[in-house]
Amino acid sequence: MNIPLKQYWDLLVDHLRVQKGYTTLLVLLLLGSISLQVFIPQLMRYFIDEAMAGDNGTVLVTVAIGFICLALVQQFVAVAATYVGENVAWRATNRLRAELAEHCLRLDMTFHNDISPGELIERIDGDVNELSMFFSRLVIMILGNILLLAAIVVVLFFEDWRLGIAFGLFAVSTIVALNRVRSIAVPHDKALRKANADLFGFLEERLTGTEDIRANGTVPFVIRGLYQLHAHILQCWRKAGNMHMVVRLVAGLTLMGGYTVAFLTGYRLYRDDLLTIGSVYLVLHYTGLMARPIRELTAQVESLQNIGAAIERLSDLRAFQPKIVDGPGAEIAGGPLALTFDNVSFGYVEDDLVLKNLSFGLEPGHVLGLLGRTGSGKTTITRLVFRLYDPTGGSITLNQTNVTQPTLHQLRHRVAMVTQDVQLFQASVRDNLTFFNRDIPDARILDVIEELGLGDWFGKLPDGLDTELETGGKSLSAGQAQLLAFARVFLHDPGLVILDEASSRLDPATGQLIERAIDRLLRNRTAIIVAHRLSTVQRADHIMILEDGGITEYGDRERLVSDPDSRFSGLLKTGLSEVLV
Ligand SMILES: Nc1ncnc2c1ncn2[C@@H]1O[C@H](COP(=O)(O)OP(=O)(O)OP(=O)(O)O)[C@@H](O)[C@H]1O
Ligand SMILES: [Mg+2]
Repeated sequence: MNIPLKQYWDLLVDHLRVQKGYTTLLVLLLLGSISLQVFIPQLMRYFIDEAMAGDNGTVLVTVAIGFICLALVQQFVAVAATYVGENVAWRATNRLRAELAEHCLRLDMTFHNDISPGELIERIDGDVNELSMFFSRLVIMILGNILLLAAIVVVLFFEDWRLGIAFGLFAVSTIVALNRVRSIAVPHDKALRKANADLFGFLEERLTGTEDIRANGTVPFVIRGLYQLHAHILQCWRKAGNMHMVVRLVAGLTLMGGYTVAFLTGYRLYRDDLLTIGSVYLVLHYTGLMARPIRELTAQVESLQNIGAAIERLSDLRAFQPKIVDGPGAEIAGGPLALTFDNVSFGYVEDDLVLKNLSFGLEPGHVLGLLGRTGSGKTTITRLVFRLYDPTGGSITLNQTNVTQPTLHQLRHRVAMVTQDVQLFQASVRDNLTFFNRDIPDARILDVIEELGLGDWFGKLPDGLDTELETGGKSLSAGQAQLLAFARVFLHDPGLVILDEASSRLDPATGQLIERAIDRLLRNRTAIIVAHRLSTVQRADHIMILEDGGITEYGDRERLVSDPDSRFSGLLKTGLSEVLV
């Protein structure tokens, strides 16, 4: 497998274009450092030849002082080049990291279902770190070293054309050899990183489920899985390591070849009186000077291989495009919304429909209670309205406008969804409620908190709205988390509310708070409620019972209650236990 150099180049150009100033400075420093490295040994040669000729001491002392000064300057320039290079690299990688994180957040749920968060972290962090090496090392070392090699060959050519040709051939054959071996380790590195990403994904998932894992006594199974993943990593590691060894071996051999060329040509030219002893020194010194870029190039070839794999995975990731894209834009009017499903079908995977030809309508301000066994597709319906997925057939309209018409922002501004398990972030209460929207005044947030009966809870917070919540809302009860989710909805005042009620049991006091909050939530709004409690079901104007992806019953709730033959009245008699978990 060969990684096209063009890919590296495109990435480099793309990211350096935005920091032209620094890049120019970096190039200048590199060129300065290279020129000095090539020039300084010339002074040494002059010094040796002058000393051999037995010339006066003042010249020698001046040359020696010049040598020391230039050597110091060269060191300084090299340090500056590294500093600026790192700077350029960090800026470029931070930009890339931000770009990728944003890209991932925009991707569809289908993508996030397939790729675990652990794997994404490895992509955005691990692979991007690898790329930071690419930016700093490739520019400074690889390009710098290649330039240095070229400069040495040119200078040697002017010294004696035979030397120029010998060393030119040596440099080219080295680079060709390295380029050849470059690609053999890439697939192994890729496998290794994939194995690491799998481990991350595994750990992430298992640690999130600690409670369930312990409760079910599956700890030994988890550990066994961990061992298996580790064994796999070791295997990949060993293979990748072997490949790297081959690469290093090739570099070592070519270097030995270089010294052989230097000694042979130096000796012959000196013997034939074509070179002075100072010039022979120069040749040997240049060979040593070439050794470093070659050694570093090899090391860089190694990281270039890792980077090649990282670039490939990152461009794979960037190639994912969300299928759910903004519509051309259509304003959805204020106030409660009308909702219709027209012959809607949907499946998460092809040929396995979860919803089949669903049609129903909901007038503005009406509440639809969705009932059905677990897995019957209730949550799926809500996801389609919110455009987390698009239906495979049929259409969904809001106020007669297809939901694909407005932009996602316009749509999600008018539709709010409270999911079964509320996500709270490690951020202040304010940010958790407003989703970082600074336009919402504190007074409004406080009003909503008070209105939802969260006043007591809020009063106990040490820093009011600035109190930091823990990730996942660990310090909150399920009921409180639900109420906070309601508060979010109130703050953005949508015309359609989707409430996927949590099935967790609540204590009576919180239960009452939630009841009151739902009352307010539904006032003057259209709503779909996936109900798990009888009291919630009773708020619905219409009832829909789902089974096997289709509607088994749909109608006015009161009519269904009074119809002794309806499924719903039957369910009420059995305490709804069949459909409410
Ligand atoms: N992200 C997903 N990828 C693939 N299949 C899914 C996904 N989410 C749900 N499903 C499947 O789709 C079907 C409907 O799931 P859905 O979550 O809509 O059920 P539900 O009625 O909300 O159930 P519950 O009452 O348990 O919340 C189920 O068979 C489920 O396995
Ligand atoms: Mg559900």
